[in-house]
Amino acid sequence: MGNRTLTFKIFRYNPQKPEVKPYMQEYKLEEVSGMTIFVALNKIREELDPSLMFDFVCRAAICGSCAMVINGRPTLACKTLTKDLPAKISLLPLPVFKLVGDLAVDTGTWFRDMAIKTEAWVHTTKEFDPTALEERMDNKTAQEIYEPDRCVECGCCVAGCATANIRADFLGAAGINRVARFMLDPRDERSPEEYYEVVGAEEGAFGCMGLMACDDNCPMEIPLQTQLSFVRRKMLAQGLKLKTEKVAL
Ligand code: SF4
Ligand code: F3S
Ligand code: FES
Repeated sequence: MGNRTLTFKIFRYNPQKPEVKPYMQEYKLEEVSGMTIFVALNKIREELDPSLMFDFVCRAAICGSCAMVINGRPTLACKTLTKDLPAKISLLPLPVFKLVGDLAVDTGTWFRDMAIKTEAWVHTTKEFDPTALEERMDNKTAQEIYEPDRCVECGCCVAGCATANIRADFLGAAGINRVARFMLDPRDERSPEEYYEVVGAEEGAFGCMGLMACDDNCPMEIPLQTQLSFVRRKMLAQGLKLKTEKVAL
């Protein structure tokens, strides 16, 4: 690899110091082989500026905490190699989520609220019997559930979605994908009416305008388009049923 000098333009703002307005700060760094944005940020923090704030935990695209907007695209810093980018790299925090400082945002609160709104747990009337044998699930169903379950809650799909940027109450692709996961689960006894209460509104499946940035941006390559249309179809059918019932009354 020819040694490139990379120029990083990084968003700086500390909500604890509101007197200092947001600005872009420039740093220069020699590129090394196999360098990711995560490695570069650590180098900048260790060698150039210890005050730079950003999040990471796993460094392996598992925890979802290092998501940021890299050259205009929401994605994971630990999964992005500098060799795949031009020598000028701009880094911004994910929009939609509460800014903690510089590139660090609070996705945890958003995802917790979404899990509560979507009631993201298996709803069953069956009594729990700790002595019973585990219920078996056929492989096909398990695989179908596994797809939406791969979400690492990074927030990239939400950050890149125009609806989510306008409507604070929009569940986003991550939320609708979560609902899909429970709709697919035969152990969840929720009826279409109950799901309609959760996602059959503008802040749910009907707020999605099919812009598909979510699908393009998901670093886990979850087929969000498929999950969204699955939920939308179910909710449209339920909406139609409700309308017909109203007319018949
Ligand atoms: Fe991230 Fe994909 Fe989950 Fe959205 S669906 S939060 S982009 S892993
Ligand atoms: Fe947004 Fe994805 Fe729908 S980008 S509008 S959630 S298709
Ligand atoms: Fe965990 Fe990047 S540090 S996903």
